Amino acid sequence: MSTVDEAKHGDDTVAFGSRRQRSRTEASQSDDLGFDASAPLLVVEDLRVEFHTREGVAHAVNGASFTVGHGETLGILGESGSGKSVTAQAVMGILDSPPAKVGGGKVLLRGVDLLALPEESRRLVRSNRVAMVFQDALSALNPVFTVGYQLGELFRIHRGVTRQEAKTEAVSMLDLVGIPGAAQRVSDYPHQFSGGMRQRVMIAMALALDPDVLIADEPTTALDVTVQAQIMKLLADVQAERNMGMILITHDMGVVADVADKICVMYAGRIVERADVHSVYGNPAHPYTKALLESIPRIDHKGQQLASIEGLPPNLTKLPEGCSFHPRCRFRRDRCTTDDPPLYDIGGSRQSACHYYEEVLAT
Ligand SMILES: Nc1ncnc2c1ncn2[C@@H]1O[C@H](COP(=O)(O)OP(=O)(O)OP(=O)(O)O)[C@@H](O)[C@H]1O
Ligand code: SF4
Ligand SMILES: [Mg+2]
Repeated sequence: MSTVDEAKHGDDTVAFGSRRQRSRTEASQSDDLGFDASAPLLVVEDLRVEFHTREGVAHAVNGASFTVGHGETLGILGESGSGKSVTAQAVMGILDSPPAKVGGGKVLLRGVDLLALPEESRRLVRSNRVAMVFQDALSALNPVFTVGYQLGELFRIHRGVTRQEAKTEAVSMLDLVGIPGAAQRVSDYPHQFSGGMRQRVMIAMALALDPDVLIADEPTTALDVTVQAQIMKLLADVQAERNMGMILITHDMGVVADVADKICVMYAGRIVERADVHSVYGNPAHPYTKALLESIPRIDHKGQQLASIEGLPPNLTKLPEGCSFHPRCRFRRDRCTTDDPPLYDIGGSRQSACHYYEEVLAT
């Protein structure tokens, strides 16, 4: 067991090695929810989320299943509207309901189904065990308070530490996420930080209470390419150091290649391919994954036209008959317009929701 693990599940909870004492307040209350240290970290089973709209019912997440272990990073890929954020929000328990409605499934954190917990317990889980980094750091931070105050409040509210202790914790978190001169910057306001630095602050806030699982939803989309790489490296480093489970959501296949261990590709609310990262990038088993890969710019294809996926994502209230990707699929046959493919087990712990995955693999 790692130092972090020992700390988290030991009796008197010293989190982050010897760096920070954890009070037996909320952290221990969340331990009382029945988490089983021997159960898998996160198991999502057949998750369903729907939105009741004027146009009809949109099945935004339609039977998603995946697992995330300690020290493991799951990349969730898919174009806009495919259900990535709704999946993350359902795991976090932050869906606006209504209009969203969880239609079924389980979100098992160390064996406890979070979907079955009352809201007060979910709040404890959110503060102590599952944290999230959002795309837009500026709007997630409060402009009228210093970053030190905002970070410190987390420790004061959730750990019951004094104001001075909270400030010390805030400085050490800013230091951890690579903000130079943390002791001075702790007194600055969000607008005094660059976009990349603000995202580091958001990561510090997400890590502050030492979560088991970190969900990063498009954490680098608003940043330029160099800063994107730095933030991805930071996320990978802190994840490895703390042996956390991480879910990394993006529509950009280039972003997760170096960081993820395994990938779920979503299309129209469904997982259409699930595999380890090397299989997905080396030889995709679903035409949609293949098309996503072909749309990544490559230096050795300079001067050639960039491939794009023809057509538009479907309206989730009116999914096409058969395979929902069929109107855009170059592997399509007649059967695809009537026969909805299940997520076929294709060997090697891989799954593909394509009737013709063998042909896709061979192409
Ligand atoms: N408030 C809402 N009301 C109605 N439908 C919604 C609402 N929020 C999300 N949806 C539906 O859920 C679908 C999935 O949305 P989600 O935000 O998960 O997409 P995404 O994959 O994260 O896309 P993006 O890459 O643009 O962030 C949308 O296509 C939309 O149909
Ligand atoms: S089932 Fe048919 S339409 Fe769907 S992805 Fe496979 S080949 Fe394409
Ligand atoms: Mg999203």
